Amino acid sequence: MLTKTEIDLIKGTVPILREHGLLLTKHFYQRMFRLNPELKNLFNMGNQKNETQQTALANSVLAYAENIENPGVLLPVLQHIGEKHTSLMITAEQYSIVGENLLASIQEVLGEGASDELIAAWGKAYTILADIMINLEKSIYIEKSSLSGSWSGWRKFVIKKKVQESEEITSFYLYPEDGKDVSLHKPGQYLSIRVFVKELGIFQPRQYSISSAPGNKYYRISVKKEVGQGVAKEDGIISNYLHNSLGEGDIVEATPPAGEFVLNLENKGPVVLISGGIGQTPFMSMLEYLAGESERREVKWIHGCRSANVHAFKNEVSDLNKKFDWLEHIVFYDDCSGSEENVKKGRVELSEVKETILLPDADYYICGPKLFLEKAIKDLAALGVDREHVFFEEFGPQTLNLN
Ligand SMILES: Cc1cc2nc3c(=O)[nH]c(=O)nc-3n(C[C@H](O)[C@H](O)[C@H](O)COP(=O)(O)OP(=O)(O)OC[C@H]3O[C@@H](n4cnc5c(N)ncnc54)[C@H](O)[C@@H]3O)c2cc1C
Ligand code: HEM
Repeated sequence: MLTKTEIDLIKGTVPILREHGLLLTKHFYQRMFRLNPELKNLFNMGNQKNETQQTALANSVLAYAENIENPGVLLPVLQHIGEKHTSLMITAEQYSIVGENLLASIQEVLGEGASDELIAAWGKAYTILADIMINLEKSIYIEKSSLSGSWSGWRKFVIKKKVQESEEITSFYLYPEDGKDVSLHKPGQYLSIRVFVKELGIFQPRQYSISSAPGNKYYRISVKKEVGQGVAKEDGIISNYLHNSLGEGDIVEATPPAGEFVLNLENKGPVVLISGGIGQTPFMSMLEYLAGESERREVKWIHGCRSANVHAFKNEVSDLNKKFDWLEHIVFYDDCSGSEENVKKGRVELSEVKETILLPDADYYICGPKLFLEKAIKDLAALGVDREHVFFEEFGPQTLNLN
């Protein structure tokens, strides 16, 4: 337990964390990778380059300091981090390395502003948080290992089928190399996969939502080829490697399904899916799952992308839309004539489809780029949707600040 003096010391750092948190976490990662270069195998070095991971860590350190008297309110956030950590096989021992580097970074960044008492208070606060997370992650590891077909660590999967779904999205059907079963994922969950990148001399993990329904002998992931847009933004390393260099018969490694952005099966009310671009992948799993259930739920899926050329699973979803009266699929294309059935021109505008999506008891799932998420969350709030019924997934470290 922290004393009142220690709590006050931690709270005293809130203004500086608010203003310079990113400086601290950038320093922290540089320091940790310099002293522990083997950890680069665990971290997504693309997220380091575009600073999303530093931002996510800065947000969480600030949130911890702000809620130091009642860290219980952070449990949903910790659950999200715990899912990501366990999908990367983070161990309790590694918490000491992170702790040492974080404390040293606070000292180095604050300089003379860091009294011994302040560093000691942060040391104690870190240990409390680390213990909460280690226990949480232990229970996630135990729960996962108890599922039939599950496994521990990085398991080899063979790409048995590679299917181009659109100009820039390709699906990979991953079968375990050992020929045994895979565990049932919850629709909406992702896999962490890793490949060895020869040019960097390290493994690189990435997360990909499972785009197929649970209950198969394989997992399907569908990957967008991230192409650079000029000098500031290089081609994405792993998505291009998967597209260009890996084919049928090649191997990738994966950890068990993870993530808490999943269909809420307790609510039997309508499901509203709202996706932008590649954000459609977890919804393919949800839709295929719902199509296979005997109990019917009303489903509305609003999807936006640049044009029909980059719209993956277009025909599959359109066929389901024709076949099932419980499903309604509306698409927004930036670039189109606007004369196709169920297609609207422009960016996703939820107010334009409010008659379709405003349904009593509905749950709303949003997935897409950060700006897309921000707008959809705001627009749903403006339409009077209760925040409790809104769930979202960012395809990268969570950097959305909803306050
Ligand atoms: C839970 C979750 C689920 C996901 N599901 C999917 C999915 O189903 N399908 C899918 O395709 N992706 C998904 N992603 C995203 C995926 O994990 C990868 O982030 C994505 O494939 C890009 O990886 P990459 O190695 O190709 O790009 P990276 O090399 O990691 O680069 C990432 C981005 O940063 C840009 N960049 C590169 N260099 C710089 C620089 N110097 N400065 C600024 N920016 C730079 C790149 O252009 C690229 O857009 C998911 C992510 C998460 C967290
Ligand atoms: C109290 C300590 C810690 C905190 C507060 C913390 C916080 C975070 C946060 C906020 C994320 C981003 C989650 C997301 O939205 O995707 C994250 C991801 C991650 N964390 Fe931690 N973490 C801690 C300890 C550790 C430890 C001990 C390790 C092991 C070295 C670790 C390794 C990672 C990795 C590899 C990722 C994924 C990074 C990426 O994809 O770019 N973390 N952590």
